[in-house]
Amino acid sequence: MRVDGKQYRSLWWDEEADALAIIDQRWLPHAFRVEHVRSMDAFVEAIVQMRVRGAPLIGATAAYGIALAMRLDPSDGALAAATARLLATRPTAVNLRWALDRCRLQLAPLPASERPAAARALARRIADEDVEINRAIGAHGLPLIRQIHDRTDRPVNILTHCNAGWIATVDLGTATSPIYQAHDAGIPVHVWVDETRPRNQGALTAWELAAHGVPHTYVVDNAGGLLMQRGQVDMVVTGTDRTTRRGDVCNKIGTYLKALAARDSGVPFYVALPSPTIDWTVSDGAEIVIEERDGREVSHVIGRTEDGPAEVAVSPPGSPVGNWAFDVTPARLVTGLITERGVCAATEAGLGALFPDVASAVA
Ligand code: MRU
Repeated sequence: MRVDGKQYRSLWWDEEADALAIIDQRWLPHAFRVEHVRSMDAFVEAIVQMRVRGAPLIGATAAYGIALAMRLDPSDGALAAATARLLATRPTAVNLRWALDRCRLQLAPLPASERPAAARALARRIADEDVEINRAIGAHGLPLIRQIHDRTDRPVNILTHCNAGWIATVDLGTATSPIYQAHDAGIPVHVWVDETRPRNQGALTAWELAAHGVPHTYVVDNAGGLLMQRGQVDMVVTGTDRTTRRGDVCNKIGTYLKALAARDSGVPFYVALPSPTIDWTVSDGAEIVIEERDGREVSHVIGRTEDGPAEVAVSPPGSPVGNWAFDVTPARLVTGLITERGVCAATEAGLGALFPDVASAVA
């Protein structure tokens, strides 16, 4: 997508710098900073500190981390050690494990001398595939938006939570891809953007939508219920960090409450789901490890001052804080899953019909 008229992906290999280029998301939307990642420590730090974030982007970053590790030392031991370090960075988004498994399966059988080039090519392939997956999610989600517009003949109001936009993926985004495609097709859309405390990833979504000219309104997390009761939301579309084989959806904390409100108000609740985010090994969402992050993300907020980004405290000194980063929306509250192969019910049968190759391989 474009930033200040220039086309970007959220990460790319910078040949001149001989390093992975990333956009440091900690400062968005206040400052746009490109940084280079050139050591294993820096890869681990980038994921842990959320310089890069969003399930698909974490997976692609980890694949480039393996590429770096193989260049430094292509031995079996180094492959195992790098995999273990990267896997431990964040627990919930399954794309991390998916990408690392894919790297291990492809690289381990190769002679060590072939691993550096193969690892780099695989990381590039994983990044490119992510873009194509998101393009297809957009194509399958677009008719859902079009149908609402055809029925109502007014702008389609879509509520989203967190950031499942291009910056959370390699490009285009998951939840935002149908929105961008609808907007580009001339369908009038308006997006309600939840701010998404504690880290305010909604501000990233608003920044993206503004850059693409998509009408939107930034709202506090608790506004969604009121908006849905008043008929001001036609559909909810979120991303996901891990979806079980039965269709339970783990996503940013607060997503479950949006799904409950949507069910109560009869608003369709869709989840944009790239297949690497399906955890075929888990049936029940209650089994998913929910990341608990530093309480400082809750007790403080980062904002923009005249001198640049700054952090201020919002809770009284000494008050204990809790910071669960994700929750699980049960499949029964999900109207449909928008995948790169089409839209399906949030059920084992629905996912299995779209992905029989993968579903049968892990059965
Ligand atoms: O903690 P984050 O910012 O990595 O969480 C991201 C989300 O919850 C996104 O909605 C999800 O990864 C889907 S991204 C396409």
